[in-house]
Formats: sequence, C-alpha cells, structure tokens
Amino acid sequence: MQRSTLLKYKNYRYFKAASLLVIFAVMAYLFDQSATGAYGGSWLGYLFGILSASIVVVLMLYGVRKRLAPIRTERRNLLNALSPQQKVPDSRKREANWLRHHGATLQGWLSAHAYLGSALVVLATLHTGFQFGWNIHSLAYVLMMSAIISGCYGIYAYLRFPRLMTANMGGIGTFDSLLLEIDNLDKQASIKSLQFSDDICAIVLKARQGTRIGGNLFQQLTAYQRNCPTSQAVQQLQVLGKNLKYDQLKSFDDLYSVMAHKESLVRRARLDVMYKARLGFWLYLHTPLSIAFLAALIAHIVAIFFYW
Ligand code: HEM
Ligand code: HEM
Repeated sequence: MQRSTLLKYKNYRYFKAASLLVIFAVMAYLFDQSATGAYGGSWLGYLFGILSASIVVVLMLYGVRKRLAPIRTERRNLLNALSPQQKVPDSRKREANWLRHHGATLQGWLSAHAYLGSALVVLATLHTGFQFGWNIHSLAYVLMMSAIISGCYGIYAYLRFPRLMTANMGGIGTFDSLLLEIDNLDKQASIKSLQFSDDICAIVLKARQGTRIGGNLFQQLTAYQRNCPTSQAVQQLQVLGKNLKYDQLKSFDDLYSVMAHKESLVRRARLDVMYKARLGFWLYLHTPLSIAFLAALIAHIVAIFFYW
C-alpha cells in the first residue's frame, strides 16, 4: 500500500465528499427553524443519526474488505499464472477484469474510512444537539470519539513511521541482520577485553549478558532500558581508559570503538522495535473500541425505539 497517497487518493476524492457532508450538515443545523430546536429526535436529528449510522456501516465494512483482499489477490495471481492456451471460464475472466480495475482499491477504502470517520465528529455531534448525560446514548458517543482519535493516530503512524524506520536501518537490510551484527560485536569485545583488568572484562560481559532489546510494552514503545549495561559500559570505559599504560592504549581504543559501535546498533535496534510497536499497538485499541461502539450504537437505537 502506498502510504503517501492514502490521504490524496484520487485527487482527494473522499476528503471532498466528507467536506461536502460536513458543510451540508453545519448549514442545515444553523438554518434549522424547527420549534423543538435540533436534537436527536428532531427530523434533522434523525437525518444526521441515520447518516452517521450508515457511515459506521461503511467503516466496519473496511475490516471485512481488508480480510478479503489477500484472498482476491491470491485468486488473481493464480488466474494470471494460467497460460493463454488454457481455457478460462468467462465468469473467471470477468472477475479478473473487475479485480484489475477495483482490486487495488483497499487504499481507496482506507482513504474513505479515514475521511468519513473523521466527518462523524461533526455529523454525530450535531445529531446529539449537544445534549449529553450519563446514559447509553452518550456512552456510544464517547466510544465513537475514542475510536476516531485512535484511528487518527493510526493514520499518523502509517504516514510517519515507515519512513523513519527505513532511515533508522540505514544500509542494514533487516532486523535480524542487525541482531547478528550486535552479536558479532559482543564476541569481538569479549575477546578484546581479555587482555585488560578484571573490571573491564566484567563490564564487557555485563553489557553482553544484560542488554535487552524489546522487553515489555512500555520498553518497546519508548525504546528504553533503564541502566542499559551497554551505555553504562561505554561511559565506564571512558573513565577507566584514562588510567591505562601507554602501550595498552591502542588495543583499548579498539575495544572502545567496538563497544561504542555496539551501543549505536543497540539504539537502532530499539528504535526499530519502537516504530513497529507504535505502528501496531493502536490497532489493539481501535478494533475493540469500534466493536464496543457498534454494540453501544445498537443499544442506543434499540433504546430509542423501545421508549418511543
Ligand atoms: C453515530 C451514531 C450515533 C450516535 C453517536 C448517537 C448519539 C446520541 C446521543 C449522545 C444522543 C443524546 C442523548 C441525550 O439526550 O442524552 C442521541 C439522541 C438521539 N438519537 Fe442518536 N446517535 C447515533 C445514531 C442514531 C440513530 C441511527 C438514530 C435513529 C435511527 C438515533 C436516534 C436518536 C434519537 C431519537 C435521539 C433523541 C433521544 C432523546 O432525546 O430522548 N441516533 N444520540
Ligand atoms: C467510529 C469510527 C470508526 C470505526 C467504527 C472504525 C472501525 C475500524 C475497523 C473495524 C477497522 C478494521 C480493524 C481490523 O482489521 O482489525 C479499522 C481499521 C482502521 N481504521 Fe478505523 N474506524 C473508525 C474511525 C477511524 C478514523 C477516524 C480513522 C482515521 C482518521 C481510522 C483509521 C483506521 C486505520 C488506519 C485502520 C487500520 C488500517 C489497516 O491496518 O488496514 N478509523 N477501523
């Protein structure tokens, strides 16, 4: 999925559609002359409510569409792999043509999802007529706003982090090769440290055994290990290096540069874990919030018609 075109999809098609909806809703709300004023139960309130609920259906369908996409792509690939001589049923050809034109529109769905989802902030708020209370109706509203906020963060993450991840990895191909490189530096540092005092050997060993990449969710999200043994080792080596004899300095410089290089690679590895965690964790909020919101919305509508 090309993330940069997500918001610009088809020359801002869904941005324009969502803006038109919002402008229409605000104008209608401002010029509404009904005696009761605008609230959920006025004709305009119903219109906004039904419009909002229809948008919610489209938003939920994105989840379904997303899961269908890999199946469709696989089918299309299978079909493309068939040689021209092979007899392909007309229905399959039609499906393949349809997919060729529409199959890549998951990005379009997500663009619509983001803009229409954001438009709900205005539509649903005008629907409520700014009347809130400690009830199921307001719970639906709060859950909706929470889903929208988490979704906005998701779009921000999708647009920002992949680029930062590429820049952070620099020339190193994959996360696994980064770990291999760190392991390699650990081995080199252990061997080089043997010619120095026990203090230095212990520092290098601790850095090898105690350095953690990843860890619990907080550590992943912040790229942070408290008292990281590798960073401590680099600082302590700086101090200890001042007391060495002249003929030891060359080998000590080698050891120091290996440890400093390791520290920078560990930082990169932690940043990579951090970007991945920040890219992924919000969806664990967004999806349950969406489902809870849907349940509360159904309860809201049932309650409205029950008391009607
Ligand atoms: C995104 C969708 C929706 C949200 C977030 C939402 C939320 C709310 C909220 C917070 C209120 C104000 C409750 C109060 O006065 O304490 C309200 C009122 C109302 N809603 Fe909705 N609603 C939605 C969709 C709908 C739909 C689809 C319908 C009907 C088909 C509907 C019908 C009503 C009615 C009739 C009221 C007035 C209730 C009253 O004042 O007694 N709503 N809604
Ligand atoms: C009440 C409003 C919303 C509902 C009910 C909703 C619902 C959903 C659902 C059901 C999914 C699929 C989750 C999955 O496949 O696990 C999803 C994904 C997503 N939504 Fe929303 N959403 C809402 C608002 C928003 C908004 C306002 C934005 C952005 C501005 C947004 C951005 C996203 C993103 C980025 C994804 C993940 C796309 C992916 O990984 O394929 N959502 N949403």
